[in-house]
Amino acid sequence: MSVRPIVLLGDPRLRLKGLPVDTFGKFLHGLLDDMTDTMRHAPGVGLAAPQVGEALQACVIEVKDTLYELINPQIVRTSGDDRDLEGCLSLPGYYAYVTRREKVWVVAQNRNGKKIKVSGSGLLGRALQHELDHLDGKLFIDYLGSMDELIPVGSDDDDESGAADDEHPTHTREAAKVLA
Ligand code: NI
Repeated sequence: MSVRPIVLLGDPRLRLKGLPVDTFGKFLHGLLDDMTDTMRHAPGVGLAAPQVGEALQACVIEVKDTLYELINPQIVRTSGDDRDLEGCLSLPGYYAYVTRREKVWVVAQNRNGKKIKVSGSGLLGRALQHELDHLDGKLFIDYLGSMDELIPVGSDDDDESGAADDEHPTHTREAAKVLA
């Protein structure tokens, strides 16, 4: 297992649509292990294969000490809406409020090709939607009306974005957990 460099915003590989995985062997297992290492090292709660330069439908998420390895994942059902801060390991140093579905149900395969189901709300629900977007070449900034909506990390002392931070001081610090 090893930590790989994370592809950053501006690199065209982040915008590629991941190809379906049809071989569940050594290459995939090595990739997943490296992705988990890289996610934990960052640290973040999720990482998608395109973020380490592999245009494949594979991602990892770790929430509350549970590691999810999702291959060829699809959202099959959603409910509600939820607006909260999130950030991306491919865009370090910034967060933004993004409205997503409150709860999602996902069908995927595990590292051996077996069908699995995962559902989640809150942090897990948000991470699932964030990572599945990466597999489509989509980023959280695509939901913003303007890049002015990005909030710099640690901007509690920053006059320019003071209004948003005064309103949500704890959210800004909590957002470190939403990096994915
Ligand atoms: Ni991300």
